[in-house]
Amino acid sequence: MNQRLLDAALAAREHAHAPFSGFRVGAALEDASGRIHTGCNIENATYGLTLCAERVAVFKAVSEGVREFRRIAVAADTDSLTPPCGACRQILWEFCGDIEVILTNLRGASESLRLAELFPRPFDASFL
Ligand code: THU
Repeated sequence: MNQRLLDAALAAREHAHAPFSGFRVGAALEDASGRIHTGCNIENATYGLTLCAERVAVFKAVSEGVREFRRIAVAADTDSLTPPCGACRQILWEFCGDIEVILTNLRGASESLRLAELFPRPFDASFL
């Protein structure tokens, strides 16, 4: 079951638009019904408008009315597995809570973490 999610992240990575960094990332977010929502990084000439793969996956899912998630896989071509950036950790926390985060690369390495390990003291809606 994991492999299906990892394969979806690797396939999504193929769609990355990363002409500025050359760093291609794919994400696959599994919702509570088992459906997979994919994303890739999409860069922009102004750099700051770049969207990471994880946020594209979350926003695609949310825009389709999905609000319950189980886990996300993130794929990049690095030996030291690539975790979500700080901004994506915040977005993931807000929409997905303490989900499983599975990191993988092109050589089949993988590691499973909880978002709470990566983002231990979040700012969240309870402060508002
Ligand atoms: N990037 C992601 O898509 N996800 C990550 O987890 C790390 C970084 C993208 C953003 C940018 O397009 C490129 O990787 C280099 O930072």
